[in-house]
Amino acid sequence: MRRTRSTEAFFGRRHGKTLRPAQAGAVARLLPELKLDLAQPAPADLQTLFEAGTDGLRLEIGFGGGEHLHHETGRFPRTGFIGVEPFVNGMAKLVSALEQEPRSNLRVYDDDATRLLDWLPPASLDGIDLFYPDPWPKKKHWKRRFVNPANLDRFARVLKSGALFRFASDIDTYVNWTLTACRRHEDFDWKASSPGDWRDAYEGWPGTRYEKKAIREGRQPAYLTFVRR
Ligand SMILES: C[S@@+](CC[C@H](N)C(=O)[O-])C[C@H]1O[C@@H](n2cnc3c(N)ncnc32)[C@H](O)[C@@H]1O
Repeated sequence: MRRTRSTEAFFGRRHGKTLRPAQAGAVARLLPELKLDLAQPAPADLQTLFEAGTDGLRLEIGFGGGEHLHHETGRFPRTGFIGVEPFVNGMAKLVSALEQEPRSNLRVYDDDATRLLDWLPPASLDGIDLFYPDPWPKKKHWKRRFVNPANLDRFARVLKSGALFRFASDIDTYVNWTLTACRRHEDFDWKASSPGDWRDAYEGWPGTRYEKKAIREGRQPAYLTFVRR
């Protein structure tokens, strides 16, 4: 049975430690401005979501503390980005970084990414990044994984032809799961031709907090890149 819409794909924690006053202040000041309002229909021109003159739109799902997202928005100031993270403490980390170094090419959403995906118009994204999604290593929980046929259909709907879906994980069973799911999906191609294509980090990769822990604990990340046909 499909879960109710409000909880379809979010199984994680929303709250961790109480926010420090500076973090709580940054959230109160910045989040209302940055957060997308899905009660309104998506604008016909998505670039109007951003103050910066942008061209192109990328999405990062489950950005954690936002290490990659903050870095990437700085590397590509002319590209619009949407970041999704329901974990309050992760969002607080990102907005604290934005107080130091603001980005006019970034908007965020703080709930289940499937809602945002369903809000976006078809063929509106140039890329989706899903880095270290919650691994759900026990077989009985695999159905909770963000990568599943319904979410790959969502990705296929919102990605432009030729756009990239990037997936990184340190959990072998999840890497194989994603390779199998994308191979079965008629809209995705995996372009890897040599081991470096999945063992080497993406160009300009800054690492993430979760990745550091995985490497410290001796797990080897895989960096997959799929192309929307
Ligand atoms: C293991 S953490 C990795 C965070 C970050 N990408 C990193 O590499 O450090 C997975 C993140 O995905 C988020 N997440 C889980 N389900 C989600 C959903 N349905 N929509 C958006 N984010 C989700 C969690 O809140 C969590 O912060």
